[in-house]
Amino acid sequence: MHDHTGRSLVLTGATGFLGAFLMVAFLERGYNVTVLGRSKMDISLSDRLLHLVRWFNIPDPGERLCSIEADFSKRHLGLNDEVYGHLCAAAGKIIHCSSDTSFTESSRVRVMATNVNSLPALLEFAADAQTEQLYYVSTAYASGMCEGLCLETPITSKCFTNVYEESKAQAEGLISRYCENHGVPLSILRPSIVYGHSKTGKSLKFNALYFPVKSLSYIREIFVKDIIDQGGKRSRQWGISLDNDGILHLPLTVYLPNRGSVNLIPIDYFVEAALCIIEHPGSSGIYHITSDNPPDMATLIEYSERFLGVRGIHALWGQAQRNPTPNPAEELLDRFIEPYRPYLSDRRIFDRSRTENITSGLSAPPFTYDIYERCMNYAVACEWGRKVCGYLP
Ligand SMILES: NC(=O)c1ccc[n+]([C@@H]2O[C@H](COP(=O)([O-])OP(=O)(O)OC[C@H]3O[C@@H](n4cnc5c(N)ncnc54)[C@H](OP(=O)(O)O)[C@@H]3O)[C@@H](O)[C@H]2O)c1
Repeated sequence: MHDHTGRSLVLTGATGFLGAFLMVAFLERGYNVTVLGRSKMDISLSDRLLHLVRWFNIPDPGERLCSIEADFSKRHLGLNDEVYGHLCAAAGKIIHCSSDTSFTESSRVRVMATNVNSLPALLEFAADAQTEQLYYVSTAYASGMCEGLCLETPITSKCFTNVYEESKAQAEGLISRYCENHGVPLSILRPSIVYGHSKTGKSLKFNALYFPVKSLSYIREIFVKDIIDQGGKRSRQWGISLDNDGILHLPLTVYLPNRGSVNLIPIDYFVEAALCIIEHPGSSGIYHITSDNPPDMATLIEYSERFLGVRGIHALWGQAQRNPTPNPAEELLDRFIEPYRPYLSDRRIFDRSRTENITSGLSAPPFTYDIYERCMNYAVACEWGRKVCGYLP
């Protein structure tokens, strides 16, 4: 029996977006954190974590932050008996946050290998360590292709938008069965789409919310360049023009399958809610960390037009109205946003009664233009992730 006295926990995925913000929050609250992860591009895991600690500008955690390079696909996580024993002793709680987050079908084998096939070693570790609680970071979209109210209950759907959702649903099933059979207390956290910090704009990842905005910004650049440098003959042909005040008139229709919303939460709300759940005794079960008040595409378009200095974009819902001869800007945006389209007009409503209860009514802040602008300014300053303020991936 391992003696898990004190506040020690093991975290995976700490070199990723959600995991890094969680790691820092744990360190700030005085936890001893052991990170399981891997080196990348010849940079050791411990150096990667050091870069992150500096980027977050927190005091050096010293020995309270420990890193162990592990291989999740191998028994005992590829560790020798001595290191595995130390790891088990450090696993008061285990937060499994690492995951392959690619949506593309061409990544199926890798996504399934990471998110599903490598779970047995991690689960065996949770049982060997007799951890107080295992927390699995899943996604609200593991609920699959459905409409209406999604409850904080096990998944029943068999249809998924992409391999990522499918793998997360399979992982939830596998982890739940194992934990039930081996007496490992389990909590499943299901965030929706996470964007940067609502108060600072800081983020480590610039996909989802950011990607369509970044795409629009590139499209704007292309046409502004055409107008300024090449006389704008092509732009005029498509009714695209530049005002004296720098506003680009860009007739552009975004086609979406349904009239729905985009369920967005800022990273600070995710961390705060996750901490409430993790620090709450007896928090087994499933929790939706989602927004009750998600914006729709019309709002996101309005914000993006204002931010980028563009006019003329509007959304059309339903395939029937699709223009058979899209202009080049529409063709480009269409291609860019394809993987995200289902999430831009989502009709799933996430029940969050259990989360609301355990977090004492904590909720995501309304997605205002101020928050949008702060996050996009941050994204632009670090070139949509190419320069994340000195952080080496
Ligand atoms: N971001 C969101 O909006 C969002 C929304 C809902 C749910 N989630 C869930 O939240 C969790 C974290 O997501 P994220 O956005 O933070 O992802 P992320 O930034 O892509 O980070 C993924 C993390 O997983 C690790 N990882 C991936 N494949 C691995 C492998 N084969 N072996 C070892 N480590 C591996 C990565 O390590 P390396 O750095 O070494 O690659 C990284 O630490 C995931 O479980 C995801 O499903 C995220």
